[in-house]
Amino acid sequence: MEQNQDKLKDIISHSKEYGFIFPSSEIYDGLAATYDYGQLGSELKNNIKTYWWKAMVQMHENIVGIDAAIFMHPTTWKASGHVDAFNDPLIDNKDSKKRYRADVLIEEHIEKIRQKIQKEVDKGRNRFGAEFDENQFKATNPNVLRNAEKIASIEERMKSALDNNDLEAVRNLILDLEIVCPISGSKNWTEVRQFNLMFSTELGSVAGDAATIYLRPETAQGIFVNFLNVQKSGRMKIPFGIAQIGKAFRNEIVARQFIFRMREFEQMEMQFFVRPGEEMRWYEYWKEAREKWHKNLGLGNHNYRFHDHIKLAHYANAACDIEFNFPMGFKELEGIHSRTDFDLKQHEQFSGKKLQFFDPEMNESYVPYVVETSVGLDRLFLAVLSSSYQNEKLEDDSERIVLKIPAVLAPYKAAVLPLIKKDGLPEKAREIQKALQFEYNVQYDEKDAIGRRYRRQDAIGTPICITIDHQTLEDNTITIRDRDTMIQERISIDKLEQKIAEKASWKKILTDLDKN
Ligand code: GAP
Repeated sequence: MEQNQDKLKDIISHSKEYGFIFPSSEIYDGLAATYDYGQLGSELKNNIKTYWWKAMVQMHENIVGIDAAIFMHPTTWKASGHVDAFNDPLIDNKDSKKRYRADVLIEEHIEKIRQKIQKEVDKGRNRFGAEFDENQFKATNPNVLRNAEKIASIEERMKSALDNNDLEAVRNLILDLEIVCPISGSKNWTEVRQFNLMFSTELGSVAGDAATIYLRPETAQGIFVNFLNVQKSGRMKIPFGIAQIGKAFRNEIVARQFIFRMREFEQMEMQFFVRPGEEMRWYEYWKEAREKWHKNLGLGNHNYRFHDHIKLAHYANAACDIEFNFPMGFKELEGIHSRTDFDLKQHEQFSGKKLQFFDPEMNESYVPYVVETSVGLDRLFLAVLSSSYQNEKLEDDSERIVLKIPAVLAPYKAAVLPLIKKDGLPEKAREIQKALQFEYNVQYDEKDAIGRRYRRQDAIGTPICITIDHQTLEDNTITIRDRDTMIQERISIDKLEQKIAEKASWKKILTDLDKN
């Protein structure tokens, strides 16, 4: 784990050094848990958004996208339940004065037990080799069974305490499990209190309660309140989806781990409206579709796992997370929720307007049920960065830092490098750069020896380096160097665009997604 924390530190400093992510307002010593995306970070972020938007909207004729305002009528948040129920249970350690989410302390304790089970399984695999049957081992090994029982019992107590809003029971569970503060090492805990996560501000110059508005804590409500607008203007038929990418704000008390948990972040959400009673089928459908979408990026299938929610949010009848193996361990990357008809019904009630769909096949009107997919853009950014950051030892004993970012997401798809700064090579290189820049973001670089330039491109994840030398002027060929294998190949300039497309085009990654 310590090694992984070091990796996170390396990623944070690499991100800053190369212009991916800067601490926000750094000249004033920064603002906690707030970050700015730099010149390469915004390219990578835009590419992640494009992958999501193309796959979700462009490739589904029954899904359309919107861009709703961040500010919404304050009654929206009363109706959605966020004013009353969007709380975190917090607990303070009296010795370190540090504040924690009580449920997260318990979940981290459960994770430690899970790791013990995993260790036992790994030992078993080593002992039994090819004959090892993981399921049978888990069902019979006494240590695994004991720990699995422990987890089940803790989860049951936590669920019951949280469902009943019994904060004393949450505290008792922390005490019974002998959870200590990671800073002070003590068990000297305060009571558990609920804390609302919404940021509020005031509209215009009028003071008082009536003018209080909120920064949206999720983009989803902008979709719900526009359900009928989109359905009618787009002549949408159920089942259909509305997608959106946008900022959300939460006053996270324990905001940490770089861009993993921020107070201002971006979500990519899609609400899929279905017939009542069909939501579980669509819930399973979207779980599978979203898993495929993630795995298609090639960050390593072993880095994903599903986690079913123990405590369902106030609007859900089923919910799970797709977790990713971040440097800090497996954590939530995306949430998939079956939100029932809760939100639309609440908005009907609070607004007095009907939010129903007339289903011509059933010849009746109903409030649709909703299955939601919600992925954190910043978390996906961290997943891409952390899984692609590698410190490689090369054959000649030198080292290189390389970002093996999926080619289609890389800030620059190619770097155009004249071997030397004279003899007409820069002019030829500029010609190539100009021809490519309509389709691809490419960088021109003529400074320093070619080896150093390759290293710079490795460090920012450019999949292809194109070198222009004297032979180029004679026979119109160039050398292309692959970021991951470092293999160089001489090809004709006519083939260049096709070569880049094979690696880094939207068509390539979306065709792969369609095939899987
Ligand atoms: N509309 C449903 C919803 O908002 P959520 O599980 O609370 O569900 C969805 O959030 C996703 O948003 C999470 O899976 C996570 O990726 C991202 N997210 C939530 N809080 C975040 C935070 N403080 N910082 C960064 N990303 C966050």
